[in-house]
Amino acid sequence: MAHTIALANQKGGVGKTTTSINLGAALAQSGKRVLLVDIDPQGNATSGSGVDKADLKADAYDVLVQGEPIREVIVPTDNYDLVPATIRLSEADIQLVNQQEREFALSKALTAVQDDYDFILIDNPPALGLLTINAFTAADAVLIPVQTEFYALEGLGQLINTVELVRQQFNPHLEVAGILLTMYDSRTNLAKQVSQEVRSYFNDKVYQTVIPRTVRLSEAPSYGQSIIDFDPRSTGAQVYTEFAQEVLKQYGE
Ligand SMILES: Nc1ncnc2c1ncn2[C@@H]1O[C@H](COP(=O)(O)OP(=O)(O)OP(=O)(O)O)[C@@H](O)[C@H]1O
Ligand SMILES: [Mg+2]
Repeated sequence: MAHTIALANQKGGVGKTTTSINLGAALAQSGKRVLLVDIDPQGNATSGSGVDKADLKADAYDVLVQGEPIREVIVPTDNYDLVPATIRLSEADIQLVNQQEREFALSKALTAVQDDYDFILIDNPPALGLLTINAFTAADAVLIPVQTEFYALEGLGQLINTVELVRQQFNPHLEVAGILLTMYDSRTNLAKQVSQEVRSYFNDKVYQTVIPRTVRLSEAPSYGQSIIDFDPRSTGAQVYTEFAQEVLKQYGE
């Protein structure tokens, strides 16, 4: 059975996709079998993994809405396997509403590949809609990237409530894996203040590893590469490798 982790925060641009790609790559480099599931219609994890959307015959939409077997849409990338997403997925929310057991579409689809992988990472859109509910229903845990800027804590209450709601209604196993501080700028007092605030509020739920803000991390996706492939000696590559070690330890791997 794979450990299934949903990366989520309804706040946009906090590092969900960057963490999905680079944690996925780092876990794969330490020998783990990884599936990255992109369920964001923006498809940033798809293009950031070096997959050209124009070449795709099928994507997550076909799995979630049309019931196509997940193996049919999986594409291999440098480090991990990927269920790609395209803009077609923007209709999924509306289409799913009329389906029976609409919250379980992803969970059911993933059953078929549970034993093929050690980790399944799900990159979510910046919303708490039906796609994210599907991810929470399918996952064991929610990993929450939080940008160390003002307003960092805003919306986290709502996010935690949604996790609680899904746990009660659809998935009793769901838990918060942890909170990951991202885009940390050590030159500013604000970053220090915000990270202290997040730690005092969430205590040991906050990962020890902190992801710094670095230009190289923001450049890698336009080359369709993880930071570990793009610039293995960069700070970003080192830190995401450290973070993967922390996650492996957490899961006793
Ligand atoms: N540690 C970092 N240092 C510098 N830039 C970063 C870092 N992490 C992410 N970025 C950049 O910030 C932007 C937002 O990051 P990312 O796409 O990972 O966030 P997201 O939460 O997935 O966004 P969305 O909510 O739109 O899906 C991207 O341009 C990304 O390259
Ligand atoms: Mg994203």
